[in-house]
Amino acid sequence: MFNKLLDGKNILVTGGTGSFGHQIIDELLKHSPNEIIIFSRDEDKQYRMKLDYGHNSHVKFMIGDVRDRQRIQKACRGIDLIFHAAALKQVPSNEDHPLEAVKTNIEGAYNVTQAAIDMGVKKVVAVSTDKAVKPVNVMGMTKAIQERIMLSENSNKHDTQFVCVRYGNVVGSRGSVVPLFKKKIDEGKPLPITDKRMTRYLLTLPESIDLVFTAAEQGMPGDLFVKKMPASTVVDLAKVMGYELGGRKDYPIEFTGIRPGEKIHEVLVSEEELIRTKDIGNYYVVVPYWRASEISQPPREHEYTSENTERLDHEGIANVLKKAGWIK
Ligand SMILES: NC(=O)c1ccc[n+]([C@@H]2O[C@H](COP(=O)([O-])OP(=O)(O)OC[C@H]3O[C@@H](n4cnc5c(N)ncnc54)[C@H](OP(=O)(O)O)[C@@H]3O)[C@@H](O)[C@H]2O)c1
Repeated sequence: MFNKLLDGKNILVTGGTGSFGHQIIDELLKHSPNEIIIFSRDEDKQYRMKLDYGHNSHVKFMIGDVRDRQRIQKACRGIDLIFHAAALKQVPSNEDHPLEAVKTNIEGAYNVTQAAIDMGVKKVVAVSTDKAVKPVNVMGMTKAIQERIMLSENSNKHDTQFVCVRYGNVVGSRGSVVPLFKKKIDEGKPLPITDKRMTRYLLTLPESIDLVFTAAEQGMPGDLFVKKMPASTVVDLAKVMGYELGGRKDYPIEFTGIRPGEKIHEVLVSEEELIRTKDIGNYYVVVPYWRASEISQPPREHEYTSENTERLDHEGIANVLKKAGWIK
């Protein structure tokens, strides 16, 4: 699968040293791309990644900032396909430093689109998040604009196609709740949860890569691919981790109160988007306005949320944690 998409291609991964970046490089290397460029700012993260991948002559590293148009333009030279994952993605830090989120997630994304067009890149897949739907926090707001910047470029005259993907929480990714709960359990401390009603989508990194490759292969200009994903309450996730890692059915939980910019439930497809959404099995595809007439019937009655999607029970949550390597 995906050989035609990837073999012999020159591929740029912005944010290639992050959680998503590591996984996509592993998956790309199962194919035969000609060159993979990992683009990010911090030399230490690149140094550590070079220890794992530096021996591979197809993998190149480039220090750079998506805020720097000239630099990203240089990275795009000769590139066929871009996976744009560079972002400031932590809700609390984006709340504290909104303008920094604007510079990276909005201006950076704009730079990527313009550089891709100027350099004749064939396709760009931008990675977005459930938090971009009806956003209540700076991170989601900036990612919502990023989606629009990417997708709106398809109505201009050039040879580059832009598609987006959207998904919810990747289990165990940097800065997420699973590593936090593990740390608390290791320290014998209670698990902090902001609100007991809270639900979150859960998926593993390999599932996110499948979505991204599918969008790259099948996505038409302006399409936004959404992964259908199960969810759990954060309380159930804590209970499973408390049991599996802490050995206690009654592992203590501490309710700390909702934080600025947090939602009780996340949304992956809004009611407004449903009228131009099609169901293709494992995915929903939100098509652009100019192709909305392709949709005769919305695929569901209500918006698609972490509250009304498939709800994982103890065993289901444990399976996801196992697949992601957090429990044995
Ligand atoms: N993790 C999740 O649960 C989740 C869910 C939905 C969507 N997503 C999206 O998936 C993408 C990747 O997330 P992740 O979990 O891999 O995040 P991550 O681990 O924090 O990685 C972010 C990457 O972006 C790079 N970066 C940050 N600012 C940059 C800039 N200005 N210029 C160039 N590179 C920059 C970082 O490296 P340096 O710091 O060295 O620059 C790092 O390589 C993000 O767009 C995120 O919104 C993630």
